[in-house]
Amino acid sequence: MPEPGLRNLPSKHPGNRIQPPGSRLREVSAQTSAGGPVGIVGLGYVGLPIAVAFAEAGREVVGLDTDPDKIAAINRAESYIEDIPSSSLQALEGRFRATGDYADLAACEAVIICVPTPLTGSRGLDLSYLDSVAGIFSRVLAPGQTVVLESTTYPGTTRDLLAVALEQGGRRAGIDFHLAFSPERIDPGRTDFTVRTTPKLVGGITPACTEKAVALYETICDRVIALSGPEAAELSKLLENIFRSVNIALVNELAQLCDRLGVDVWEVIDAASTKPFGFMRFEPGPGMGGHCLPVDPFYLAFKAREHDFYPEFIELAGKINQSQPLFCVNRIERVLNDNGKPVNGTKILILGVSYKGGVGDTRESPAIKIIRLLRELGADVKYHDPHVPQLEEAGLSDSPDLQSALAEADLTVIVTAHPEFDWGEIVERSRLVFDLRGVTRDLEDPGNVTRL
Ligand SMILES: NC(=O)c1ccc[n+]([C@@H]2O[C@H](COP(=O)([O-])OP(=O)(O)OC[C@H]3O[C@@H](n4cnc5c(N)ncnc54)[C@H](O)[C@@H]3O)[C@@H](O)[C@H]2O)c1
Repeated sequence: MPEPGLRNLPSKHPGNRIQPPGSRLREVSAQTSAGGPVGIVGLGYVGLPIAVAFAEAGREVVGLDTDPDKIAAINRAESYIEDIPSSSLQALEGRFRATGDYADLAACEAVIICVPTPLTGSRGLDLSYLDSVAGIFSRVLAPGQTVVLESTTYPGTTRDLLAVALEQGGRRAGIDFHLAFSPERIDPGRTDFTVRTTPKLVGGITPACTEKAVALYETICDRVIALSGPEAAELSKLLENIFRSVNIALVNELAQLCDRLGVDVWEVIDAASTKPFGFMRFEPGPGMGGHCLPVDPFYLAFKAREHDFYPEFIELAGKINQSQPLFCVNRIERVLNDNGKPVNGTKILILGVSYKGGVGDTRESPAIKIIRLLRELGADVKYHDPHVPQLEEAGLSDSPDLQSALAEADLTVIVTAHPEFDWGEIVERSRLVFDLRGVTRDLEDPGNVTRL
């Protein structure tokens, strides 16, 4: 009997075969100890918290990265990720060490891959990080190891790409080693859900692979959900992110329409949010940023096109969100115009440049696009962001003194709502404020604030 969930999948790979009883994998897996070392490849926003979670659960963890500064920092028990305080690393009592040597992964019971899957400059898929890891790791991959991919990617990557790449070392996926996909659901800056309390999805290329990966994550997650295969797990992650992208595009478009109609979009959203069912609140803003939301729709669209399918709805959402910074710059021009100022030569302070509040991650941040467009129009742009000391993409350094930056600027644009900002004080000390996040709604308006 074929596995129910995998029956109709167009797999090119033998890993889709059903595991025969008594196969080599079962023999080998019976010999691996539960609770052996765990290897984490890629110690960034995703990999580091997972590494810490396993080490906190008592496992020995070997973290592998190509960045020597990160390796050195981990081995000094110094964190470079806001959500992980250095004290958490110090409390691990040496159970977590970092390396740049793949040979150190050979003794691991499981290896979890968390490397970037960005887009190229021309918006193509950049799977080069994953390719590189698979090529080198395949040479040291040990029999019976469980390999899990956590990087976000299109459905089919684990079975059709990663399995094939890892098999270059001579071991067969689903037979000599276990292989699964488990999407990372971390939301940097968030404290109400942790690695332990966020349910974990797992899909292996065979039922035995799923079983192994589920057992692995059960040591760090309260709830682990087994899926029919990696494709369902890969696609569920894209659905989660595309759901957000589509809903953000909807309210961004509504904000553009409200501007034409002269209606307050925030009031409309507040009103709709009073419905206790059938409505979920999303808020407009400067556009979508981060490593996931602007990127993931392209991964799905790529896979869809291979099947002569054009996901227009998803692509439209991406298009609207990408055009939102242009709309915001147009609004900035109008705010200045209403106050008798041109953009050219005007001092504009951008408040917050990371893609979301409470973090320092500037990947795909709409603030960068807004800064670039304003500078092209001749504006004298400065920024302040307590989480981002340098904005290399724009060749700018943070204005460390917020008070003098506010005093100097003709216009303050609130782009990222960091929790430490005091909005009352910012409004009071600014000449003009343009609020792209709706954070000034509850303040008494002294007459200098315009909202998106
Ligand atoms: N950051 C998030 O909130 C988040 C959430 C869910 C999923 N994801 C996905 O997880 C993946 C990783 O994202 P991230 O935010 O942790 O990225 P990141 O850039 O913060 O971390 C990636 C790490 O991988 C290292 N690296 C790069 N090439 C390597 C190689 N060949 N070998 C070993 N290490 C290598 C980098 O030095 C870096 O430390 C991506 O696919 C991303 O889309 C991220």
